Amino acid sequence: MSLIPDLRVVFAGIELKNPVIAASGTFGYGVEFEDVVHLDRLGGLVVKGLSREPIIGNPPPRLYETAAGMLNAIGLQNIGARAFVEEKLSRLRQIKDLVVIANIFGYTREDYEHTAEILNQGEGIAAYELNVSCPNTQQGGIHFGSDPHSLDEVVSSVKRFSMRPLIVKLSPNVTSIAQMAHVAQEAGADAISLVNTFVAMAIDVNTRKPRIANVSAGLSGPAIKPIAVRMVYEAARSVSIPVIGMGGISTAADVIEFMLAGASAVQVGTASYWDPRATEKIVTEVGKWCREHQIGRIAELTGAVEL
Ligand SMILES: Cc1cc2nc3c(=O)[nH]c(=O)nc-3n(C[C@H](O)[C@H](O)[C@H](O)COP(=O)(O)O)c2cc1C
Repeated sequence: MSLIPDLRVVFAGIELKNPVIAASGTFGYGVEFEDVVHLDRLGGLVVKGLSREPIIGNPPPRLYETAAGMLNAIGLQNIGARAFVEEKLSRLRQIKDLVVIANIFGYTREDYEHTAEILNQGEGIAAYELNVSCPNTQQGGIHFGSDPHSLDEVVSSVKRFSMRPLIVKLSPNVTSIAQMAHVAQEAGADAISLVNTFVAMAIDVNTRKPRIANVSAGLSGPAIKPIAVRMVYEAARSVSIPVIGMGGISTAADVIEFMLAGASAVQVGTASYWDPRATEKIVTEVGKWCREHQIGRIAELTGAVEL
């Protein structure tokens, strides 16, 4: 008799049909992937970071492939929260059974609050993911994610404005991820997600110029996976709220590894750049992996690393 594994996971009161979520900034507003991925097979998707007003982003070059990874300094280009609600959300809502998470970015605390207020008016958003960890803008973003006091302030104030569960996306560019995870929890986060990209840099030795116009950029992809797993493990041990893990996931085994480290669900980012169908393929593989390993309920793997 072949076992049909139960892939459902729950975090912050949201049930996902499986733990695989498309990560912010690597999956557009979801609608762009409709022709290549069966969106309703995904656990969920996080849309590109949204701000109060549209942002043009940084000048090119903004992407550069590295050994087992990718540098990006997009600079949070997006159409703005209002246009997202008016132009994209209605289409996403037509897709049955799709869990949509809106990623929020701001330069100031008020920006975050206003963006949440705009998004509160849209129907069909399951949760907000607060990006306090973007390394690619001059101000804001990473500042909130690297200083415990600022993190506490921005999370507690957005929590007051938010009509939806709040996931706080932490920066890996900190000394103690356990401390930042704990601060987010105490400030009212319903869940945390990590990691965002690592601040990095590459130089073209022939031209002597940085590979990315912004000079520094965020590193993502398989190159960061072991560091991300360690950080998810440390963060999960320091909080009682659910943890969503990411950083270099491209296979079912990667998903399981993050769950064993303490993640209730995971996100897949850069893998969609080399294979736009990666998210859906990983969902299929995870089901197969659980069948082959006689795992009845995938949720039981969360934090089940044996030390
Ligand atoms: C091109 C690009 C754009 C991104 N934009 C965002 C964003 O708007 N908001 C955000 O929270 N994270 C953003 N990220 C970070 C990813 O969501 C993810 O945290 C990170 O890339 C690590 O996962 P990965 O190694 O699977 O890509 C972006 C990443 C990439 C590569």
